[in-house]
Amino acid sequence: MNNAAKCILDVDYKIGNIDPRIYGSFIEHLGRAVYGGIYDPGNPLSDENGFRQDVIDLIKELGVTVVRYPGGNFVSGYNWEDGIGPKDKRPTRLELAWRVLETNQFGIDEFALWCRKSNVLPMIAVNLGTRGPDEARNLVEYCNHPGGTYWSDLRIANGSKEPHNCKIWCLGNEMDGDWQIGHKTAYEYGRIACETAKVMKWVDPTIELVACGSSHNGMPTFASWEAEVLEHTYNHVEYLSLHQYFGNSEDDLAEYLAKPVGMDNFIKGVIATCDYVKAKIRSNKTIYLSFDEWNVWFHSWEADSKLAPWQIAPNQLEDIYTMEDALVVGSILITLLKHADRVKMACLAQLVNVIAPIMTETGGSSWRQTIFYPFMHAASYGKGIALNMLVDSPTYESKNFGDVSYLDSVATYNPENDELNIFAVNRNATDSLPIELEIRGLKHNLRVVEHIVLDNPDMKAINSKQQPNCVVPRTESTAKISDSKLTAVLPKLSWNVIRLAPVK
Ligand code: AHR
Repeated sequence: MNNAAKCILDVDYKIGNIDPRIYGSFIEHLGRAVYGGIYDPGNPLSDENGFRQDVIDLIKELGVTVVRYPGGNFVSGYNWEDGIGPKDKRPTRLELAWRVLETNQFGIDEFALWCRKSNVLPMIAVNLGTRGPDEARNLVEYCNHPGGTYWSDLRIANGSKEPHNCKIWCLGNEMDGDWQIGHKTAYEYGRIACETAKVMKWVDPTIELVACGSSHNGMPTFASWEAEVLEHTYNHVEYLSLHQYFGNSEDDLAEYLAKPVGMDNFIKGVIATCDYVKAKIRSNKTIYLSFDEWNVWFHSWEADSKLAPWQIAPNQLEDIYTMEDALVVGSILITLLKHADRVKMACLAQLVNVIAPIMTETGGSSWRQTIFYPFMHAASYGKGIALNMLVDSPTYESKNFGDVSYLDSVATYNPENDELNIFAVNRNATDSLPIELEIRGLKHNLRVVEHIVLDNPDMKAINSKQQPNCVVPRTESTAKISDSKLTAVLPKLSWNVIRLAPVK
């Protein structure tokens, strides 16, 4: 066993309020995310609208709060008008981002209805690749204006009397990347994003807008892109986006588990850049962060490179996640919570079938991938206030991230029920890790409600249709609390949630 990790937290030392929208996800018109994923007419598990009820139930269990739609790379070539009105009149088009056929049988009206049924907020991206302010303002009018105008009356005629009330909007997607349809320089994007933002807010001043940051922090234009885009858009947007995906194609577990440290650095760099522009333009306004694409993505690369083009809803980006991927996802969630003061929205990309926590068989059943569990735990218990925890843990030397702590951890305090929850990953591959946590500033004594653990002797273990319960959470009994001092043992290579509540 390792030396203990020693930690201190004080309930008054707050990082910030946790915005529930950090537990968001993403549905793109890509692969089987929409068709066969959330929309599968003819499946006995689907409702009268063709929405899979089994998937809606899993999404509720996962605790997703917001869903970004319709892309992703897809949105940069999308005509939203193709997806409204009678389904037999909707065009099938060549979809250039993913080289497939798009039938448009699912569009904005179906998505808005599906969001209501799934109890999630919509986050809508507009096309700033091939299109611009005109189509974007029309879409806001279609979705949010009550009636009496061309586009709002068309929505009513299409069956939605009440406005969809979409309040969160993304100004395009990954516009810094040359893979994007209509890729732009920071100047070109900054200008069109500014003009689009203006007219969207003139249609509905209550909406919130996200400008595109870099596609990831390895982009050659990272940071200068953010600075230039914000110089054009600062007064018109509330959020700047971040995207990042992680992989382990080198099959180096220690390095893989350290990668969320790079995500932490990325977030710090974006905060610094937002605040640089704030200082430069002498603004009192703070820009918040929307980490609206994050996940592990690499298992499906090879299969996708061999896919024949122009199919309808092929098996694309269908990563099958392992135990080690679940640990990385756990660390990513911890990282987001550690930045609760600035990261106010985040989307696990994606939600169903496409690099997703939920898998389905088109026409058949559904199951939970390994990464489902850390997300579900964070969304259920990571509520209220994120707390600053001092951590003194044994470390290991990584190739790219310096000395990395074996213990990755954050605490949250929910003032509504006085629960204190500790989220922790033990990165040690050979040993369990004892922790000793001193809790200060609470007016009542605490008891251990439960210590949830996700681990497995096989780091490559997966869940599948045949074996859906290979990697599932269990409970541990090592956690004890006395005199505000918590002790527990975190098994090697494990995700942990230690739930504490007031003694009754
Ligand atoms: O989520 C898959 C893709 O990753 C998205 O379409 C794009 O925005 C990102 O590059």
